[in-house]
Amino acid sequence: MIFTKERSKTMSRAASDKLAISGGRPVLQRDDYRNWPIITQDDRRLINEVLDSGIIAGGAAPQVAALEKEWAAYVGTKHCLTTCSGTAALHMSLAAVGVGPGDEVITAAFTFLASASCALHQNAIPVFVDIDPRTYTMDPTRLEAAINERTKAIIPVHIQGLPADMDPIMAIAKKHNLFVIEDACQAHGALYKGRKVGAIGHIGTFSLNNYKNLPGGEGGLFTTDDKVFLEKGGLIRCFGDEIDEVSHRRIYNASILGYMYRNQELPAALARAQLMHLDENNNIRIANANYLSRELRKIPGVIPPYCPPECQHVYFMYNVRFDPKAAGLDCEPRRFRIAVEKALCKEGALVGQWQTMPVPAQDLFQSKLGYGGSSYPWAVNEAKGIQYDYDVANFPVAKELCDTYTIVHGIHAPNGPELMEKIGAAFRKVFANLDEALAHADDAIYPGADGKLYGAG
Ligand SMILES: Cc1ncc(COP(=O)(O)O)c(C=O)c1O
Repeated sequence: MIFTKERSKTMSRAASDKLAISGGRPVLQRDDYRNWPIITQDDRRLINEVLDSGIIAGGAAPQVAALEKEWAAYVGTKHCLTTCSGTAALHMSLAAVGVGPGDEVITAAFTFLASASCALHQNAIPVFVDIDPRTYTMDPTRLEAAINERTKAIIPVHIQGLPADMDPIMAIAKKHNLFVIEDACQAHGALYKGRKVGAIGHIGTFSLNNYKNLPGGEGGLFTTDDKVFLEKGGLIRCFGDEIDEVSHRRIYNASILGYMYRNQELPAALARAQLMHLDENNNIRIANANYLSRELRKIPGVIPPYCPPECQHVYFMYNVRFDPKAAGLDCEPRRFRIAVEKALCKEGALVGQWQTMPVPAQDLFQSKLGYGGSSYPWAVNEAKGIQYDYDVANFPVAKELCDTYTIVHGIHAPNGPELMEKIGAAFRKVFANLDEALAHADDAIYPGADGKLYGAG
């Protein structure tokens, strides 16, 4: 968007206005934001198809089967299974590649809990690797140091829509004979060197929850080229129950340990309808992110997200970091972020943190209570003298990120340049009045998106 002379005059006036946190007029109103997901006639049509069919569930029911075919074709894998969540897809993947008690599974220190807890669900032990300071994905240069004879799998996470650096990760995995399970739960449609994520590792996993770029309400997807993983995944998804080869019926004879991880027809139909608009909606996210980054880059102390040239980020989240030194202030970075977040929130900008700490810093890992307070699965290896150290000091990059970042909400369609321009104006206003913002750092203000923005109100 081109700034007119009139508009830039308005902007500089806005920048000198009193901050809303001190009683001034906010830059944004709640109704400047439009909600996600977008429901179209395609959603209504496919949901009605389910209702008219009278089939609402089933491992091979029509919508589920069609979604599996369409998603495999979209991602570029031979096979796909639908699941009831992204977490289920991750757990199924570890079970399918044969991870078991005492094995170690490596993932990134900055992620959602499920990238690590899926290992615990398989009685295996999560090991964390710090992140790259620019991309916030697993730092491949630190990966080999985390590998030992117990390591079975690596779970790189395509964080907030940006692919992890898969070439070095795949090369290290090959060298050490490890399985790679992509956690693509936040990155539907993202590209790494022209390839869709979810088609690079041995298995790819996606979430379909209502926040995601591809929402189905809840649900997940498991993608692979490997027929053995497909068949094993299918068994694990449905109690481990064998299917009779002739009659194609369940024979209620569980041959392996399985779970109930099937999805249903209504979420599958919704995901299929949303898939028809995925690329179009991802392109809007990308355009919004590029617009906002161009504006925010001009403000000293604001660090917009970085996307390496070989990747296509799909901006499930738009992550901004703050650097008080670059803003000309001698201030503790965490306090600076909190002050800026609160001032932006009062300007009407929906900003706020997602993960507040690296995953290994969570109580689950600090206490290692495990199953029923038994210390399992860690106790399996600790009995052999192996120690697991989840000291947050081991993950300085993830820790610094968690101190200094916020999420700018509203990057999704149907929001567009008008909203991005207002968000940019709110940032400019706050950064033109940083002393005033810092004076309110301890005010009782709780930044974040309201639930309704993501249809969960
Ligand atoms: C990176 C990541 N992995 C896994 C999951 C788990 O997905 P689900 O909530 O569908 O179980 C999520 C969900 O938000 C996620 O963000």
